[in-house]
Amino acid sequence: MYNYDIPVRRYNRKDLNDFCEKYLVALGASEEEARITSAGVVAAASRWHPGKGQGLEKLFRLTLQLGNGGINCNADFEILEDSPAAALVDGHKGFGYVVGHRASSLAVEKAKNVGVGVVTVKHSNHFGQAGYHAETITKSGMVGYVMTNARAEMAPWGATEPVLATSPWGIGIPREGADPILLDMALTQSGQGMVMWAFREGQDVPDNWMLTADGAKSTNPADFLNDDGSASTGTQYPIGEFKGYGLALFTDVLCGVMSGSLFGVECFQDDTNHDVGHMIMAFNPEFFMSRDKFQVRLEKLVNEIRAAKPIEGRSVYLPGELEFLTERDSNENGVPIDERSVEKLLLLAEEQSINFPNEIG
Ligand SMILES: NC(=O)c1ccc[n+]([C@@H]2O[C@H](COP(=O)([O-])OP(=O)(O)OC[C@H]3O[C@@H](n4cnc5c(N)ncnc54)[C@H](O)[C@@H]3O)[C@@H](O)[C@H]2O)c1
Repeated sequence: MYNYDIPVRRYNRKDLNDFCEKYLVALGASEEEARITSAGVVAAASRWHPGKGQGLEKLFRLTLQLGNGGINCNADFEILEDSPAAALVDGHKGFGYVVGHRASSLAVEKAKNVGVGVVTVKHSNHFGQAGYHAETITKSGMVGYVMTNARAEMAPWGATEPVLATSPWGIGIPREGADPILLDMALTQSGQGMVMWAFREGQDVPDNWMLTADGAKSTNPADFLNDDGSASTGTQYPIGEFKGYGLALFTDVLCGVMSGSLFGVECFQDDTNHDVGHMIMAFNPEFFMSRDKFQVRLEKLVNEIRAAKPIEGRSVYLPGELEFLTERDSNENGVPIDERSVEKLLLLAEEQSINFPNEIG
C-alpha cells in the first residue's frame, strides 16, 4: 500500500460517488453515463496513488471537454463493422469510460458465442484505467485484454521527441471466489503526474522514470519539467527500454492506425477532439476447457507463485493485489484525495451548487 505521509483528505466512497454522479449530470451527462464514469473515477481514487492522476482529478479534464465539445453527452455507440468475433465501433466522442464499458460488454458477448471477442474503437476519449475495463470482462468469467493509445509522451527508443503514448494495458484473469489477477500498467515506467508530484513534494525520482529533453537520465524531477513544474519537457521512459517502445508502437497500430482514430503525434493534442482509439478483447476460457478445469489449473499456478521463496524482506504479490489492498483500506478509512485537488473540486462543486462531501475524521 502507498505511504500517505502526503497531504490528502479522506472521504466516504459512496459520498464521493454520489457527488461525481450529480456533478456529471449537472454538466449534461445521462444518468447511465454519470454512473459508469463515476464508478471508474472513484475506483481509481480508491486504488491508485493520487499522483497517478486517475481519480477525481479526472473531473477537471471532463469539465473542460464537456464545455468545449470534446466529449458528447448521450453519444452514439455505433457498430460500423460486425462479425461473430470482431467489431469496429465509432464512439462519437463519448465519455471514454462509457465507450470502454460498452465495448467490453460487446467483446464479452462475442466471446461467449465464439470463444473470442475483439472490439476496435475509434473516436473515443481517455478511458481511465485500462485494468478497470479488463476487470469488467473478468466479471463475466472471461479473460480481458484491453489497450488504448493517448497523447505522445514516449520517444522512440534512442530519440528525444515523443511520438508514442504511455499506452496502458489492462489484462484481467477471472478467479473463482477471489479478486481477479489484474495487470494494469502503462508501458512507461511512470507518468507525468507522479513526476510532478515528486517535484511538488521535493522528492527525487528513480533515474528510469523519464528522460530529459536531451535524452539524459536524472533523478531530479525538475530536470523533466518546466520551471514552475507545470508540464513535462522530457519524455517518459519505456518499460523494458526498447521492448516497451516496441509494445507501445504495437499498441498504437492496433488502437490508432487500424481503428481509424488519430495516432502518433496527432492523438490527444486538441482538447476538442482527442480522437483516442482502443482495442478491447475478451477470451472465453470455456472455449478451450471447462470453467472448473481452467480454475483448478489457474489456482495451481497461483499456488506455485505464492509458494515461491521471497527475497529477504520482500513479499510476492499477484498483479493487481496491491491495488485491491489499497482499495480495501480506502473503503474502510476513506478514499484519499490530494489536498490541492480538493480545493479545485470545491470550486467545481460551488459552480454547480452541489455539496461536496464532508471529510472523514
Ligand atoms: N488511459 C490512459 O491514457 C492511461 C495512461 C497511463 C496510465 N493509465 C492508468 O493509470 C493507472 C496506473 O498505471 P501504472 O502503470 O502507473 O501502474 P503501476 O506501475 O503502479 O502498476 C502496474 C502493475 O504492476 C503491478 N504491480 C506493482 N507492484 C507489484 C509487485 N510488487 N508485484 C506484483 N505486481 C505489482 C500492479 O498491480 C499493476 O497491475 C492504471 O490504471 C493505468 O491503466 C491510464
